[in-house]
Amino acid sequence: MNPFEELESNVRYYCRRWPAVFSSASGSTITDENGVEYLDFFAGAGALSYGHNNPVLVEVAIEHFRAGKLLHSLDTFTVEKRRFLEAMQRYVLEPRQLDMVIQTVGPTGATAVEAALQLAQRITGNRAVVGFEGGYHGMTYRAASISASMAGRATSAHLKDFVALPYVANVTDEDVQLLKDTLRSTVDGQKIGAVIIEPTQGEGGARPFDPAYLRCIREECSEIGILVIADEVQAGVGRTGPFFSFEGSSLDPDIVCLSKSISGLGLPMAINLVRRDLDTWAPGEFSGTFRGNNLAFATSAAMLETYWADSELEKGTEQRGLIVRNSLQHIADEFGHGRFVVRGNGLLCGLDVGSTQVAETIAQGAFERQLIVETCGAGDTTVKLLTPIVIDENELLDGLERLNDAVAHAV
Ligand SMILES: Cc1ncc(COP(=O)(O)O)c(C=O)c1O
Repeated sequence: MNPFEELESNVRYYCRRWPAVFSSASGSTITDENGVEYLDFFAGAGALSYGHNNPVLVEVAIEHFRAGKLLHSLDTFTVEKRRFLEAMQRYVLEPRQLDMVIQTVGPTGATAVEAALQLAQRITGNRAVVGFEGGYHGMTYRAASISASMAGRATSAHLKDFVALPYVANVTDEDVQLLKDTLRSTVDGQKIGAVIIEPTQGEGGARPFDPAYLRCIREECSEIGILVIADEVQAGVGRTGPFFSFEGSSLDPDIVCLSKSISGLGLPMAINLVRRDLDTWAPGEFSGTFRGNNLAFATSAAMLETYWADSELEKGTEQRGLIVRNSLQHIADEFGHGRFVVRGNGLLCGLDVGSTQVAETIAQGAFERQLIVETCGAGDTTVKLLTPIVIDENELLDGLERLNDAVAHAV
C-alpha cells in the first residue's frame, strides 16, 4: 500500500510536483529517503528564509526543550514572549520609527489577514475590501475570497464585498484615477474599509508595485479614512532585502501581517503589527488557541538578534538577489526570444516565460536536476525562485546553473 495515495486527501499538491519522500534538510538542501540531495529554491513557500534547520536557531530550540520551557502558552506572559517582543521593538520597530503594537494570532498567514480585516471593519465600520489582481492572502473563507483568483489556487470561497484593482508596475494617471474612484465607491452595498496589498506580490508572480503607487494608496486612504493593510506574509522578514518589502515607499501601513519566516525556523507563527492608536480591540475579541507558540517566540527572538542587529543580511540579500536577476536575464536573453520577463525584488524573483506549459516543463526539468522550484502568477507562467536568503553563493550559482540547463531543455 502507498499510504500517501491510499490515505491522503486528493487535495495534496506539492507532493505531486516533487514526488520524493524527503527525510532531512540543512540550509538550502533537502535530502530524500534514498539519499538524493535537492537544492531548495522554494524554501517552504517562503517560510524558510533562514534555511532549513538553521544551526543557531536549532540550538535555541534544543535548549528550549532541554530546559523544560513552555511550548504552548495561549497569550499568557512568558519569558520567551517577552524576549520576542523586546527583540521586535529593538531590531524592527524602533529603528524604523514604527509606533506599533504586536498582536499574536493563530499560526497562519490567513489568520493574520482575518484579524487585520476584522480590525479594519471594527475601526471604520465599513466591510468592503480593495485588493489587487494577483494578490494572495490565504485559504480561510474571507482570505480566499479577497485573493484574486490565481490558476492552481482555485477556491470555492466567494464573498462579494471585495474588488480587485490591477497590479501596477509603473503608475499612470489612469491607475491613480481608478484607485480614487474605487476607494470612493461601494461594493456589494458596502463602503470600503480597507485596502490590502502585498507590496511585492509572491504568488502573483514576484511582482513589486511601483513605490509611487504605494504612496498614492497611502495618501488616498488617509484622506478618506480607509485602513492600509500590508500583507508581508511572504515578502517580509527580509525576503526582499529590508525587513519589510514596503520600506522606502511611504506606504506607511496601518496594519502589517507577518507569518511564514517570522519564527526563523519554519515553525507555525503569525503576528500583526498594528498602529498603536488603532489598537482598539477589546480583550479577547480576537482569540485563538495557538497564539502562543513559545518555541517559535524563542527562535524568532534569536533570529532577530542574530540577523537584524546590523545590515549585513539585508545587503547580502540584495547582492544575491542581483545575482539571481542577472542570471535570469541571461536565461531570458538566451532562450526567451523576447518573450521571457524577469521580475522580482531581493530574493523574491521570477522568470515569466509566458506559457503555463513551458513553465511547468522547466519546473519539472529542474526537479529532474535536483532543484526545487515552483511556478506562480496568472496562468502559472512564472518560474519562481525563493531561495533561503542566507543561501551560500556557491549553492546559489549551482542552482542557477541547473535552472539554465532545465530551461535549455524545455524550450
Ligand atoms: C502574501 C501571503 N499572504 C497570506 C498567505 C497565507 O498564509 P498561510 O498559508 O500561512 O495561511 C500567503 C501564503 O502563501 C501569502 O503568500
